[in-house]
Amino acid sequence: MDVTRDSEYSFIKMINVNSQIIINKVSSYLQSRIAFYVMNLHIKPRYIWLSRHGESQYNLEGKIGGDALLSERGVQYSKKLKTLVEQYIPNHEKLEVWTSTLRRTQQTAQYLDYPKKHWKALDELDAGSCDGLTYDEVAEQFPEDFAARDENKFEYRYRGGESYRDVIIRLEPIIMELENQENVLIITHQAVLRCIYAYFMNVPQEESPWMSIPLHTLIRLEPRAYETLVTRIKADIPAVSTYKEKGTAKLGESNDKSKILAGEVISSSSGAKVAS
Ligand code: F6P
Repeated sequence: MDVTRDSEYSFIKMINVNSQIIINKVSSYLQSRIAFYVMNLHIKPRYIWLSRHGESQYNLEGKIGGDALLSERGVQYSKKLKTLVEQYIPNHEKLEVWTSTLRRTQQTAQYLDYPKKHWKALDELDAGSCDGLTYDEVAEQFPEDFAARDENKFEYRYRGGESYRDVIIRLEPIIMELENQENVLIITHQAVLRCIYAYFMNVPQEESPWMSIPLHTLIRLEPRAYETLVTRIKADIPAVSTYKEKGTAKLGESNDKSKILAGEVISSSSGAKVAS
């Protein structure tokens, strides 16, 4: 595209990735969002580190939402996370740690002595009227909602709360900021991590709410030009499963390998590769 010859067209031209950007006839809201997005892209090799908070008291009780503190094993994970960071994150001296504003993520970051940012946008999906209930209680007290959520988990919005689509929208500034960063560890929640993970892994929207993101696992994303590589490092500290399969209120994952994306490498923190 040439500014003189093609002046009547809307286009964004990147020269040498983003050492120079030409924005021609960009006017609508969507076009300007795209221009902003493109301006934030870079191709420097980098990792993005992700973790859920350590196991919480609510996780032990099978309750959703809330602002609970960590269980004993959750605290163990927060200590272990410091070791994992030092062991696995190159240049960890320059790391920045992002958490949500909820206590369980900040408690998980308590032994990480790096600059921290607490983002409201990283708070867990708001379960509205169901906050503080177990899935069994949701199924009993709000049977129609329970079925509707299973039917279309991406679009279902809790009464007085949020849907996965809502979470994605509020994550936009995080994604923009992340595209610009080189060394970040994000400690957040199951639903939020699914959304971030799905963005980098190009997972279709309707599948993203069903992805497996277990507790006590450090995830490394390595964005490349046409794909993102993933490594999961398990911390070897037991935790409950907070995964609810479709059609049941019970917690726990069947050993369905399809939930682990092709190309993911799973290692234990002892260094042993356990699956791929
Ligand atoms: O159970 C842990 C939790 O983080 C809840 O607080 C939250 O409501 C839930 O996971 C989100 O997962 P799902 O969308 O599968 O219900």
